[in-house]
Amino acid sequence: MTGGPTPLRLALALLGLFPAAAMAADLPSSDPPPGASACSGCHAPAASDGGMAPLDGRPAEDIVASMRGFRSGTLEATVMDRIAKGFTDEETRAIADWYAARGGRDAAAKP
Ligand code: HEC
Repeated sequence: MTGGPTPLRLALALLGLFPAAAMAADLPSSDPPPGASACSGCHAPAASDGGMAPLDGRPAEDIVASMRGFRSGTLEATVMDRIAKGFTDEETRAIADWYAARGGRDAAAKP
């Protein structure tokens, strides 16, 4: 026995990596996807009374449809047209899913 990397050690090392990845995939409302935290600068959480429409709890389809509209110009915008152009469909979808999932939790917490 020299202490080199045996198949068993490699297997244990891999086992140590994968549970964390699997757990992260199961938690849609954990860390925001890239870009999502940029939205909350203007779009306040659902609980607040800010002027901007909150994104929390909006159906993901609504957010995706609005972002497409802003990007293509079919929806009138002051800033969202430029913002929407900065995200791919995949990124928009990830952001929309994340906000939709957050809303479920926030809505459940309301009195
Ligand atoms: C600089 C401030 C700002 C940021 C950042 C911002 N928004 Fe907006 N958002 C607005 C404004 C203002 C409107 C109203 C339309 C307009 O004037 O452009 C709007 C409208 C929207 C709407 C339509 C709301 C409705 O009631 O139909 C959606 C959906 C939306 N934003 C999603 C997002 C997403 C997703 C992000 C992050 C990727 C984001 N916004 C980032 C300012 C912002």
